[in-house]
Amino acid sequence: MAPDRRTFLQVTSAAAGGLAFGALAPEARGLDSMSGPTYRGLPDVSPAPRALRILVLGGTGFVGPHQIRYAVARGHQVTTLNRGVSEAELPPEVEQITGDRNVSELGALQGRSWDVVLDNPTTLPFWVRDVGEILHDRTDQYLFISTLSVYDTAGQTEIHEGSPRLRYEGGDPLEVTPDAYQAQSGRLYGPMKAASEDEALRWFGEDRTTIVRPGLIVGPGDRTDRFTYWPVRIARGGEILAPGDGRDPVQVIDVRDLMEWTVRLAEEGTTGIFNGTGPRATLTMAEQLHGIRAALPGDLELGFKWVPAPFLSEQEVRPWSEMTTWFGPDAAISRARVDRAVEAGLTFRPLAVTAADTLEWFRAQPAERQELRAGLDPEKEARVLAAWRGAGSPEQS
Ligand SMILES: NC(=O)c1ccc[n+]([C@@H]2O[C@H](COP(=O)([O-])OP(=O)(O)OC[C@H]3O[C@@H](n4cnc5c(N)ncnc54)[C@H](OP(=O)(O)O)[C@@H]3O)[C@@H](O)[C@H]2O)c1
Repeated sequence: MAPDRRTFLQVTSAAAGGLAFGALAPEARGLDSMSGPTYRGLPDVSPAPRALRILVLGGTGFVGPHQIRYAVARGHQVTTLNRGVSEAELPPEVEQITGDRNVSELGALQGRSWDVVLDNPTTLPFWVRDVGEILHDRTDQYLFISTLSVYDTAGQTEIHEGSPRLRYEGGDPLEVTPDAYQAQSGRLYGPMKAASEDEALRWFGEDRTTIVRPGLIVGPGDRTDRFTYWPVRIARGGEILAPGDGRDPVQVIDVRDLMEWTVRLAEEGTTGIFNGTGPRATLTMAEQLHGIRAALPGDLELGFKWVPAPFLSEQEVRPWSEMTTWFGPDAAISRARVDRAVEAGLTFRPLAVTAADTLEWFRAQPAERQELRAGLDPEKEARVLAAWRGAGSPEQS
């Protein structure tokens, strides 16, 4: 018997949980640095009132380059620390120092100080501890990029910054090694991020710590294609399988909105905990897909075929990984409150800009990178659509 809609969504969301909101599969990490965002300059950015010395931990992944080019355009002096494995096109004035946080190799930080530390890639608590040991009295602010996946959403209908978080039950989280973490295939992502938040507060205190919990980060340079699937699929036209009845909520944040905001949080010395997703008001799946369609150039011949979740379940179409950005109607994770972030200056580009820029970026990638890494395989989509027609689907589009 097919599971009912709620059970299906709970099970599949839990299965996808390990890869939710930023936990990259090992094969997707650091392998396609050449597909990162291109540095095109930011002509409209005004200088910040005061130039800061900013240390960016990471900086050459997906989110870092957007943050760094904005920070440089605002007049800040930026240093990055990473292993030097991933490649990204950064502004030439950025100082790049190296260290491997997996083996606590952070000698390059000794004896230095920065106004602000922006820690982008960290999942393991000992990475935070190591930085804390060296820089706890050598910086005014530590901003940690966390994730909405820290929340324990069981029994919740929405999430806000005070909602319960996941806990690591396996002992001292500081002792979890990179190998042990990898062996769990992402299942420790939420608990480890939560423990890393605690570690940040332990070293830098509430008065110097900023915790940003993003939802799905999307836009040019995204290595996962979880949002990219929709602009690419819609641009292909034809009959497009769409999940549910169109009314389910979705939340994503344009990487540029998120990372430019982190720089402004640093400039203003804003501390505290913030969900970092968008948009400002509820966006439905239908609004997202029609909004993307409206943003794409050309006369597209297409129609959305909305297929109910129970039928998708029978056809083994998965939310999130195949029907990307979608968790169904009841998912608290798609109902994260962002009022606190908006109050603290988070702004949102129009969906149309995100969609058009993402498609432009994707089409500029080498042919081998234009194989989508998420979304529904075209043959499977055709098969499910045919089955839905065969089941006497009610007409809707
Ligand atoms: N993507 C999403 O939808 C999403 C959603 C919610 C939250 N998040 C969070 O957002 C952040 C995403 O960051 P990202 O994708 O830009 O980062 P990332 O790909 O996870 O990490 C890349 C950066 O970290 C450096 N790095 C990797 N291993 C290192 C090591 N052992 N020692 C020192 N540096 C190392 C890399 O440079 P090298 O390789 O050269 O060392 C690179 O600069 C993460 O914290 C993620 O959890 C993401």
